[in-house]
Amino acid sequence: MSSSGATARLLPGGPVAQQVLAEVAEGVAALRAAGVTPALATVLVGDDDASAGYIRIKQRQAAELGFASPHVHLPASASQADLHAVLADFNGDSGVHGVLVQHPIPGHLDYDRALAVLDPDKDVDGMHPVNMGRLALGLPGPLPCTPAGIEALLAFHGVPVAGREVVVLGRGATLGRPLAMLLAQKRPTANAAVTVVHTGVPDWARYTRRAEILVAAAGVPGIVRPEHVRAGAVVVGGGVRYEGRRLLPDVDESCAEVAGAITPRVGGVGPTTVAMLFRNAVRAAQRAAGLG
Ligand SMILES: NC(=O)c1ccc[n+]([C@@H]2O[C@H](COP(=O)([O-])OP(=O)(O)OC[C@H]3O[C@@H](n4cnc5c(N)ncnc54)[C@H](OP(=O)(O)O)[C@@H]3O)[C@@H](O)[C@H]2O)c1
Repeated sequence: MSSSGATARLLPGGPVAQQVLAEVAEGVAALRAAGVTPALATVLVGDDDASAGYIRIKQRQAAELGFASPHVHLPASASQADLHAVLADFNGDSGVHGVLVQHPIPGHLDYDRALAVLDPDKDVDGMHPVNMGRLALGLPGPLPCTPAGIEALLAFHGVPVAGREVVVLGRGATLGRPLAMLLAQKRPTANAAVTVVHTGVPDWARYTRRAEILVAAAGVPGIVRPEHVRAGAVVVGGGVRYEGRRLLPDVDESCAEVAGAITPRVGGVGPTTVAMLFRNAVRAAQRAAGLG
């Protein structure tokens, strides 16, 4: 929070994630009681330290929640065909319910092509083109984790969304675009009037200044400043950029002086994203077992 008189209520993601993960653990226990061991497979390509660290954290968490987590580590020299072969094996393995390919992958490989090979029902990131299509059509399926995490965060903290004006800054495939689709759906925790702004709308502040809920999804450090925020609005910081280990959020801290509620700089949207990954995994196992 800013030292210069911040007033906004904080909207941490940690308690949201805890609640979601408690539900996931219950789901895993019920599956195990029915004789099914839910399995979330992980795939790491190359030797990037940060990626290896993220995979280790997710595997540890998977084990704590009761998932099996078979892991494949391909060398940095792996070909696109090698990666596809691993995914095809997991697709054909009925004991594996979800598959996570840690990104980024080495530059000579095409992540989107690999994702398209994965069985959409095992896509725990919710980013497969079929799952984006399901989202657009309002059909059930794995939801993209960060948008689903933001919806859960707003619901958990009692922020009404239905009928309100939400402005999303950014139309990227990971965050802005799927979030706009999600929050416009006809459900009690969504049902909003959603506007999406981007570089094609140079005067985007005209829209953000009238937003009751503003979501930053640009990945441009400090792009959202107090003059872009309506007094009392809810501000959600989704976009971040990393410089080494330093996290640089889209939302300037001084926005807390204007906003009514705001996600904290650290521990906001991030923890909810990870929780949604496990929610997608347990739901995939439930569906496969005919329990979903
Ligand atoms: N917190 C988390 O757990 C989490 C998880 C996933 C992603 N993220 C973050 O979410 C952010 C968005 O990711 P993404 O993959 O969806 O987006 P992306 O593909 O990087 O797209 C960024 C979007 O922001 C817009 N934008 C960039 N600079 C702008 C400017 N100066 N004015 C107006 N609009 C601008 C771009 O507009 P154009 O379309 O016109 O280029 C684009 O639509 C990233 O920072 C990523 O790190 C966070």
